[in-house]
Amino acid sequence: MENTPVIGVAGLGTMGLGIAQVFVQAGFSVLATDEVAAARDGAGARLAGALDRRVAAGRMTAEAAGAALARLEVVPQIADLSPCALVIEAVAEDLAVKRALFAQVERTARGAVLATNTSSLRVGAVAEGLAQPGLVVGLHFFNPAPAMKLVELVAHAGSGARALALARAVTEGAGKTVIACPDRPGFIVNRCARPFYGEALALLEEGRSPSDIDAAMLAAGYRIGPLSLIDLIGADVHLAATEGISAAMDGHPRYRVFDVLRAQVARGDLGVKSGRGFLHPDAPGEPPPDAPAIALRIEAMLANEAASLAAEGVPPDAIDTAMHLGLNLPRGPFEAARAQGPDRIRAELARLRARASPGLQPRYDLQPALAAL
Ligand SMILES: NC(=O)c1ccc[n+]([C@@H]2O[C@H](COP(=O)([O-])OP(=O)(O)OC[C@H]3O[C@@H](n4cnc5c(N)ncnc54)[C@H](O)[C@@H]3O)[C@@H](O)[C@H]2O)c1
Repeated sequence: MENTPVIGVAGLGTMGLGIAQVFVQAGFSVLATDEVAAARDGAGARLAGALDRRVAAGRMTAEAAGAALARLEVVPQIADLSPCALVIEAVAEDLAVKRALFAQVERTARGAVLATNTSSLRVGAVAEGLAQPGLVVGLHFFNPAPAMKLVELVAHAGSGARALALARAVTEGAGKTVIACPDRPGFIVNRCARPFYGEALALLEEGRSPSDIDAAMLAAGYRIGPLSLIDLIGADVHLAATEGISAAMDGHPRYRVFDVLRAQVARGDLGVKSGRGFLHPDAPGEPPPDAPAIALRIEAMLANEAASLAAEGVPPDAIDTAMHLGLNLPRGPFEAARAQGPDRIRAELARLRARASPGLQPRYDLQPALAAL
């Protein structure tokens, strides 16, 4: 590729290295750095290892892997990112750290678009205090970045059209599906996924077994059940994400942090990484007789959350695509609602609301966009 913009990556941890791989594989030159010398020194070997695995799997030729590796240049400091047209930061999830980093980048890589890979901070907050906040956008990659097709492109209130267009063009140029989303907590996927876990935890708190819940979702075509997914992510990581969204949404009961999750973390049963989780090391058993009712309940809540985001201006088909690609769901929340039948979805929400404790009733309030489905 000729005349392609040089991409900068700050932070060479899990996400930064994966993002660098995405771009070098697609033919972009990448300049990357990390404040930790060991992360810089090891980056080439880690990338070579990842590319070798692709070659071994027959997904890339050895020649292409060698060329991709040669396109990564690890540089000692942020100031060395000056030739970049777009700098993506994947440093610590800390507002002060990200702001300080972008302030440094905008002084050296003048005019570069600054993209943050934050999962939980407001992109507008990262841009605050910069000389050119219009150059800041969110580019939210999913883990593992080379494998996950979706990237959420986040515009904050002051993001400039040129910055958004450049971020979109290069990310699509690297083969990703880019979906625009507002600067709201959890963007699309992390917000609309809440009920997948949350309603499973509600069921658990009501006394259903982890196996029944996960088996019901597997029977409905989901690749993994919600509780097994928490086991994979780590209950502590999941709790932190849930608490973050709950706080950002002013503690609305749709984002309830269930006691059963807190207790799990307090016990140290974090999932795969601790050796025991909600289900781990076991797999779900046979689906219970009422498996379709469990799936209906979770899909009704997924659709209701998606409807609440649609009311904020995100097109339903964009939400379906994002959920399909970002969470590997077999169908998006609106597709699922149509397959279940909108009347059944609405009736299920009404049923759940009628039997909920007063504090939880607003959790099940029908969202207007779903009323019209
Ligand atoms: N891990 C995920 O699943 C995931 C998914 C999407 C987004 N994110 C976001 O991506 C970002 C990075 O996450 P990660 O999981 O790759 O973290 P990580 O801890 O694996 O890597 C962060 C890297 O940044 C480096 N770093 C920290 N401060 C720096 C600075 N000021 N300048 C240069 N380098 C610095 C660290 O040395 C480390 O190597 C976070 O904002 C996170 O929220 C993570």
